[in-house]
Amino acid sequence: MNGIFEAYRSSIGKKFVIAVTGIILFLFVLGHMIGNLQLFAGRDVLNSYAAFLQSTGKILWVVRIIMLTVVAVHILANLQLFFMNLGSRPVGYRVKKTREVSYSARTMIWSGPIIAAFVLYHLLHFTTGGAHHDFIKGDVYYVVVSGFKIWWVSAVYIVANLLLGFHLKHGLWSWFQTLGFAHPKYNIWRKRFALLFSGLIIVGNLSMPIAVLAGWVA
Ligand code: HEM
Repeated sequence: MNGIFEAYRSSIGKKFVIAVTGIILFLFVLGHMIGNLQLFAGRDVLNSYAAFLQSTGKILWVVRIIMLTVVAVHILANLQLFFMNLGSRPVGYRVKKTREVSYSARTMIWSGPIIAAFVLYHLLHFTTGGAHHDFIKGDVYYVVVSGFKIWWVSAVYIVANLLLGFHLKHGLWSWFQTLGFAHPKYNIWRKRFALLFSGLIIVGNLSMPIAVLAGWVA
């Protein structure tokens, strides 16, 4: 146990934790999107899917608690790494940093908090209903469609999911680096993998508000 805490103290230990929690969050986002795309199959299909998730009872709560812990650890490790890098950066050294490192630090550190704020809004909007203008418990299809009919709500989802895609693209790319697949020979595959999966999330998640705004789903 002491060894684990010792390893976590180093920056590579933190990066490892960020990579592992990041991939769990990515898998959640991918699975969530695949489930949500049942919106295109109609009211009955989406509502039955939501009812099935609710019917899992205790399992759903165990998954929620695990995911909440994973989110907390992902944020904490990122903040610690950010302040660690800030503290260890020698004065005047900034220009010597590679472009990739400073790019990552600058973009990930602001897209992360915006995504976290979006998730809080999203939970109040579609899960508890506190931020929804006409929340009907049990009719997820109505909640989603009536929610996206409001243009600025759809705009919030579109901007947040574009940022999420951007965050994931860099996250997936870094994931391979942290886990040791950073040989120049694999770089083209790393890039393609990151582009493919972040692109899938963007296209899938944007398709829903766009389809509602366009009147294709009503
Ligand atoms: C257009 C995109 C999205 C749609 C249509 C959507 C739809 C929904 C709906 C309908 C629920 C409520 C399910 C229920 O109460 O039965 C929900 C819950 C949730 N969503 Fe999304 N979502 C989207 C994007 C996202 C993204 C990008 C994230 C994370 C980055 C996310 C994270 C969550 C979480 C954490 C919950 C709560 C799950 C639970 O505790 O049961 N969603 N979403």
